[in-house]
Amino acid sequence: MKITVEEAKKKIDTLKGEIERHNYQYYVLDNPAISDAEFDALLRELIALEADFPELITLDSPSQRVGGKPLEGFTTYTHRTPLLSLGNAFGREELLDFHRRVVNGLGRENVEYVVEPKIDGLSVALYYQNGILQVGATRGDGTTGEEVTQNLKTIGNVPLRLKELIPALDVRGEAYMPKGSFQRLNAEREAREEMLFANPRNAAAGSIRQLDPKIAASRDLRVIVYAVMYKEGFTLNKHSEALELLKRQGFSVTEPFITNDINKAADYCEKWGQKRYDLPYEIDGMVIKVNSIEEQEQLGFTSKSPRWAVAYKFPAEQGVTKLLDIFVRVGRTGAVTPTAVLEPIRLAGTTVSRATLHNEDYIKEKDIKIGDYVVVQKAGEIIPEVVKVVPEKRTGQEEPFNMPEYCPECKSKIVRLEGEAASRCIDISCPAIVREGIIHFVSRNAMNIDGLGEAIITQFFEQQLIRDAADLYYLKYEDIINLERMGPKSAQNLLTAIAESKKRGLDQLIFALGIRLVGQRAGKILALQFKTMDKLSKASSEELTAIPEIGPKMAESIIAFFNEEKNLEFIQRLKNAGINMEIAEVQAVSDKLAGKTFVLTGTMEGLGRRDAQVKIEALGGKVSSSVSKKTDYVVVGAEPGSKYEKAKELGVVILSESEFLELLNG
Ligand code: IVH
Repeated sequence: MKITVEEAKKKIDTLKGEIERHNYQYYVLDNPAISDAEFDALLRELIALEADFPELITLDSPSQRVGGKPLEGFTTYTHRTPLLSLGNAFGREELLDFHRRVVNGLGRENVEYVVEPKIDGLSVALYYQNGILQVGATRGDGTTGEEVTQNLKTIGNVPLRLKELIPALDVRGEAYMPKGSFQRLNAEREAREEMLFANPRNAAAGSIRQLDPKIAASRDLRVIVYAVMYKEGFTLNKHSEALELLKRQGFSVTEPFITNDINKAADYCEKWGQKRYDLPYEIDGMVIKVNSIEEQEQLGFTSKSPRWAVAYKFPAEQGVTKLLDIFVRVGRTGAVTPTAVLEPIRLAGTTVSRATLHNEDYIKEKDIKIGDYVVVQKAGEIIPEVVKVVPEKRTGQEEPFNMPEYCPECKSKIVRLEGEAASRCIDISCPAIVREGIIHFVSRNAMNIDGLGEAIITQFFEQQLIRDAADLYYLKYEDIINLERMGPKSAQNLLTAIAESKKRGLDQLIFALGIRLVGQRAGKILALQFKTMDKLSKASSEELTAIPEIGPKMAESIIAFFNEEKNLEFIQRLKNAGINMEIAEVQAVSDKLAGKTFVLTGTMEGLGRRDAQVKIEALGGKVSSSVSKKTDYVVVGAEPGSKYEKAKELGVVILSESEFLELLNG
């Protein structure tokens, strides 16, 4: 069905409006009105239409958020007005000093201030012309930054078009990664044995400085804006008016606190020093700004920072305490992590008595000894770590630490492989490895067995009620009722929770197995691809590496896992206990594609590959990984591989992505 350009334009405009409205509902208001699937369907419809009418693609189209082609390098961007930093105030006294300077500068006592959180991310500048986002750039040295427009456009709460027609607007804000998203990202990276990000700020900065915008698009980033630096077409008398204007244009802003009493401002800052742990993002202080723009102009700037604003810094989440001892913990992968036992210290609202020392090299590099006074840091939700020694406090009595030669749990020799920072116990029957594996198996993102924590598992294990996670499913009431702190009700609840977990998705089960390098996302991909545990266990290296997200290392690890007789027996026992081992077949909702076999090759711009597969199957078709004479259609995305050549050779019908979408939707 062909449509005219006029019709296409009308439809595209409607879709654009609708999609951006839903984006706003989701990212800014945190109140989505439709499901993710419905949202994706709208976006795909737009992308398909734009593919047919590329002349209708505009800078503000939501299709521009998915991230286009990778760049060769970033270009520098000279800011219209430099991005300044702020002077610091540590504590109430220094805030009062700031107030005195303001009072002196203005020659009047009564000053109105706005107080807002200081978001701990990286500062970005957004440049709008005639209401459309033209350029987004990082701070750089303040004068010139890097042009990262493509990446910033992938951020859901950055408006591509302002709600009102404003001739020119330069906005400043902070790009960040929410705490929860940071934890999920690091968990995924840990599973893939990739370098972890030290904190959400580094994760956000690392994401925005990627040349491939698909990476930024895949990370959950947000921007909160806090200043208008240049504008045309309207006047602003107060900073608080600027925030209101920004909010009206569709930006996320924080709620300002307005007061003309500097002591009230200080109270508010102190209150946030505790409340900050409840926020979904990290803040490292508060910013106090003179509200009147006229007064701001009167006060002006020093060479580095405005005289009308100051950053109130929260007391550090660091503290000094005594390192009493070092022991090693053996993790699920056998990695042996030295851990410090500390004299308890209050940090960031909690008492800390353990902190990680990472690995042997870390201890050597920092020259950390038992008995030392050390600086301990608890950044956000991250495990506390020992940062450094306080050498002035040394007495000479400190003892050096040596990595044990033998595993404290199974006594087998600890090895350190070439090029690895971690020392490992490599005996897979080591009780510590097995116990940690069970803890992983029942954890929330795996089989999610409610009420089965570390303490109970350790008890089960020590009482020899279980040897591995499969044994959990064979536990009886009589087995557990006599354990410490276990009443009839909690025993029954626990058994119910264990039974309940038999229904978990195949993806969760795959992740629960703890196959090296296979994280939650890989679990999902493998489940979708192979559909049953049986098929996955027989997958060949070729089949595995044909999946775009599965690299040779992960494939090797999966094959090694299923080659192990013990692992197959373990899976068999899970199966016998009635654990779900397959993905519910996608119910064909129509038989439009019944009997048709598809092969997908190349990068699909709009519809992801797995979504394409689900769609095909929902219409009764099949997806195969290799092209043969039996293949009905080969769908070709960007940069297709040899499958494309093969299809041409065999004379199989070749569909572009837009033709494919037409076939699906037509
Ligand atoms: S005002 C002239 N407000 O903190 C405007 N900055 O050290 C000066 N920041 O690089 C900045 N939240 O990226 C301001 N609510 C906020 C902020 C904020 C975070 C960052 C900003 C700047 C740094 C200042």
